[in-house]
Amino acid sequence: MINFRHRGKKITDHKIKEEKARKNVNRRDFAKRSVAAGAAAVAFPAILRAGTPAGGVRPLVEKQAAQGGGSAAKKHANGWLEGTTIPAEYYLDPKQYEEDERHLVDNFWLMVDHESRIPNAGDYFTFEFGRGENVIILRDDKGKVNAFHNVCRHRGSRLCRDADDPRPKDQRLSVLQLGASGNTPLFRCPYHGWTYDLQGNLTQAYKMQDDFDLSKNGLIPCHMRLEEGHIFVSLTREKKPPSFAEDSKWYSEVARKYGFKDLKIGARRYYSIKANWKLVIENALECYHCGPSHRSLVTAHNWDERLTGAEKAQRLKELEGWVCEASRSSRKAAAESSNGMGSSDEPNWTAEYDGELNPGFVTGSLDGNPVAPLLPNFKEWSHCFDIASTGYTTAFWEAYDDHVAAFRFTPRGPEFTDCEIFWLVHPDAVEGKDYKADRMMALWDITMKEDVWIVENNHLGVQSGGYGPGRYAAHETGPANFIKWYMTEVVRA
Ligand code: FES
Ligand code: FE
Repeated sequence: MINFRHRGKKITDHKIKEEKARKNVNRRDFAKRSVAAGAAAVAFPAILRAGTPAGGVRPLVEKQAAQGGGSAAKKHANGWLEGTTIPAEYYLDPKQYEEDERHLVDNFWLMVDHESRIPNAGDYFTFEFGRGENVIILRDDKGKVNAFHNVCRHRGSRLCRDADDPRPKDQRLSVLQLGASGNTPLFRCPYHGWTYDLQGNLTQAYKMQDDFDLSKNGLIPCHMRLEEGHIFVSLTREKKPPSFAEDSKWYSEVARKYGFKDLKIGARRYYSIKANWKLVIENALECYHCGPSHRSLVTAHNWDERLTGAEKAQRLKELEGWVCEASRSSRKAAAESSNGMGSSDEPNWTAEYDGELNPGFVTGSLDGNPVAPLLPNFKEWSHCFDIASTGYTTAFWEAYDDHVAAFRFTPRGPEFTDCEIFWLVHPDAVEGKDYKADRMMALWDITMKEDVWIVENNHLGVQSGGYGPGRYAAHETGPANFIKWYMTEVVRA
């Protein structure tokens, strides 16, 4: 789905850096390439339980792995061959998922939303991660955004419940509980009524012992930061959260170019994906599938890798005269490339990526026409778009001149990943008058529904005894490097 296109002027540096990266893929490398599926526990086939990662792979898997990876591919101690997909256990084993989740908790800043979702004092929403983490994000009466674990300090109840209307439907029942989002001056626990203010302070707990100290029983905060208008949380229990700055240069550059900070949410949509988070991310890191699976997307974006070298050259010729840097870069890259196809699937994770729209398109829409007013930072159509990501996160942004599509992929269980897309627009744009939400969402809504289908289909396939590691194509360096990072950093850990 999400592809990365490198600026032509940096190709040489990129090649060198990529060679270094091949030798040493660390956890940071993954974060720069990640995007992103509760708990619909599909039975874990007995045939797959036999071969654990620690105990080596099954003969069938080993045989198939030997067919992949290329002649110079390195074989790891656990039997995995670089350049191939991983044995099914890594996708399906609940214990492996626990390890994955722990790694993400300790090492990732998770993008949860844009702060325009909570403009007023008392506005709040909850963010769910993994099998049990739940965080309340709120704006307090001083205008500050706070993040607290959604857990009462008394006996651990949830303060806000992740359902549209969590109150029992039977009106004779007296339980009162806040929903997953809304506006409130205080957070009252539905169990025994302990009450917290918008700074997380416990303000009321009736009939407690004389030595009970309200001030020591406030809500537990979690690490939170605002970056260019977006809210990030780290769920690590360490006092010091993972670094953000060292991996955020790329995100910051794109965010400032498009003015992310001052935009507002114009629409949002949730997608449930019944698949392991790694399959979701692998899919998001390559566009080898875009030609066969995303007709609308490759109609708008110049991402159809099925084109022959001659067809690609012709496409680039049609882009002559366009003003955006991406077009110029693509032409230069094509000229430098031996096959005339450029270097679209060879990402340099330490640099910024952008891409060109196809002739006749000024934005990411179905028909090429604008879907919203130009963003404040633009005075004319550039005919290109940018992609942003940060380190230690599972979020991506596709930025166009008139809107930005922000993607959040959040692991929720071994076989379940959340996806949410929110679309950012000009702060003064009015829905229905300046833009139509359905029209603006159409391209990525269609594309995401296609992705949900193909990724869930992939997840069904890896549950078969006939599945074994297959070889990544030359245009799949994104997932190949992601899996290399995973097998050397997460699994090793
Ligand atoms: Fe919240 Fe008792 S668990 S008040
Ligand atoms: Fe896709």
